[in-house]
Amino acid sequence: MTPKPRNDRPQGLHVACIMDGNGRWATQQGKARLAGHRAGVETVRTVVETAPSLGIGTLTLYAFSSDNWQRPRREVVALFELLDHYIRRETERCLKDGVRVSFIGRRDRLSAPILRAMERMEDATRDGATLHLRIAVDYSSRDAILRAAAQLAASPGAASRSDSRHDRDSFHELLCATDGSGVPAPEVDLLIRTGGEQRLSDFLLWECAYAELYFTPRLWPEFDALDLETAIADFHRRERRFGRVPDAAVG
Ligand code: FPP
Repeated sequence: MTPKPRNDRPQGLHVACIMDGNGRWATQQGKARLAGHRAGVETVRTVVETAPSLGIGTLTLYAFSSDNWQRPRREVVALFELLDHYIRRETERCLKDGVRVSFIGRRDRLSAPILRAMERMEDATRDGATLHLRIAVDYSSRDAILRAAAQLAASPGAASRSDSRHDRDSFHELLCATDGSGVPAPEVDLLIRTGGEQRLSDFLLWECAYAELYFTPRLWPEFDALDLETAIADFHRRERRFGRVPDAAVG
């Protein structure tokens, strides 16, 4: 059976962002790194507000990786304060704009107050149907894959599964079920990384199997609505073949 094209997304595109360059932006401005993260939150607002008008149905933002715990304690504390502030300030607006928010990543290492704030935001916005905003906190894609794989191995019938496509689909579902939020999300269509680096940094490795990659030298705090529009226009010019030949080449 021919697999159905997976770029047909009635629920909108899934765009993921690695929000890089906050520190460099702050240094350029002669400010402390924290000022860069603060400015980065303004970009988060802009991107969330603009996404639905560009056909984006799911937006996943990499706010704090599991490796970010290795940053200076002061910066880690400041990042969680910013997240807490964002949650307090944006829950109402998300509700009004139909934005459903969920958090992916490990929850067992987060402080009780931030965890409560995250859960409250998830609960309050769960009926939002315009955009699904996923915020990755204490997230490592390799850890997420390992957790899902362990669960799959322990599930009944694990040894006898033979249909590999079915396995891919069910593994994807399992990843979503175990990613911290438990809310399903489609595979990533477009991954944007700001700040000039060209790597994935342990972000959505499974979900990006066929994602288009877009790297821009723009630093996250200066990335604006027009930059997002440019990235989406670039995405629409690409030919996504998912391993097949172009339609014109089918004889
Ligand atoms: C990478 O820039 C950015 C981060 C590790 C944190 C991203 C966090 C925010 C934008 C704010 C909080 C998010 C939400 C959703 C409220 P960097 O510091 O590594 O920059 P550099 O490479 O220039 O040093």
